[in-house]
Amino acid sequence: MTIAVLPGDGIGVEVTAAALRVLRAVRADLDYAHGDVGGAAIERHGSALPAETLALCRRSAAMLFGAVGDPRYDAPGSPRPESAILGLRKEFDLFANIRPVKQIPGLEDASSLRPELLRDLDLVVVRETTSGLYFGQPKKQFSDDGVEAAVDTMIYRRPEIERIARVAFELARERRRRVTSVDKQNVLETSRLWRRVVVAVHEEYHEVELEHMLVDTAAMQLMRDPQRFDVILTENTFGDILSDEAAMLTGSLGNLPSATFGAAQRADGRFGLYEPISGTAPDIAGKGIANPIAAILSAALLCRHSLCDEDAAARIENAVAKTIASGARTRDLARDGAPSLGTEAFTDRVMGAL
Ligand code: NAD
Ligand code: IPM
Ligand code: MN
Repeated sequence: MTIAVLPGDGIGVEVTAAALRVLRAVRADLDYAHGDVGGAAIERHGSALPAETLALCRRSAAMLFGAVGDPRYDAPGSPRPESAILGLRKEFDLFANIRPVKQIPGLEDASSLRPELLRDLDLVVVRETTSGLYFGQPKKQFSDDGVEAAVDTMIYRRPEIERIARVAFELARERRRRVTSVDKQNVLETSRLWRRVVVAVHEEYHEVELEHMLVDTAAMQLMRDPQRFDVILTENTFGDILSDEAAMLTGSLGNLPSATFGAAQRADGRFGLYEPISGTAPDIAGKGIANPIAAILSAALLCRHSLCDEDAAARIENAVAKTIASGARTRDLARDGAPSLGTEAFTDRVMGAL
């Protein structure tokens, strides 16, 4: 069984190396094959998602992804490293991006919110990732009667909403049975359709409680009372923004793993893409200080969902919890002035805890 390892750029390389050390320790039997994505792939192959990498992903059981993006490619007309992750989501129809936001005991004081608001924090953002503003056409810059203009198109089709709503309701059924569907129906037509379709799909899930919330209110409630949420169901752009906000409840953007699924399912596990929700962090890239927790926990999700290996997943998660409980912190998690560990030294501690 092959796992595609796609480190990408910046800290993506550093945290993926850490996650791979841990994954190899629990599953030495797998074939780990590296592929180029992002800026690194543009440099070597002239494309952010080269054909070789796609071929590797196609023959893999799952993908362990780092991050893509590099300020060097921000110039107008330049190829964009980010097209690698967008291309993978589109190519494999990976529409359901699951972002679990769970407090790791001991990190309550790393957050900027009061610890008592966070103690039992356990919510999941279910984000649609193949449609909406990211992919709608037209999408371009143009001249509007001699005035520079640009357009992006926000579009949702009924089946796209139905399938992501089902994922959220099914997940809620295994949890605290509460879905908060987030939209902007007071302004956006896409949101009015979204709400109508979510209500219709909810007919099949009466055991789950459904509430609707406008996205600005949701951003506020995440700060005011995050423990009120169980499953947050939302579209592509809102989910991108709210999940970075939610990540900070746990103390750092570097803590949050994610799993993205399509409809493809094997008898022995689901095909999926596993990645930290954060980016390439150009401000700290190359310094060896990035927090590898998100990447390591993404490897745990890979074990659970693509390998059906609950034991390996739990071992990795317990090792991270133990490492934090022992007082180890990377710089982003340490209190001002407190000592911290680099990526490798922190990962050594996780390996020890395994
Ligand atoms: P970012 O997520 O890379 O970083 C935001 C802030 O969080 C930075 O201060 C960074 O140092 C910090 N941070 C992030 N992860 C961390 C970690 N593991 N440990 C410690 N600190 C961490 O967002 P950005 O700076 O706005 O974007 C940088 C680049 O990453 C852009 O090119 C963007 O397009 C790309 N990006 C890629 C992905 C992805 O590949 N999935 C996701 C988000 C952003
Ligand atoms: C994420 C990232 C991506 C997104 C970018 C890199 C395209 O921010 O995975 O959250 O916006 O989906
Ligand atoms: Mn994002």
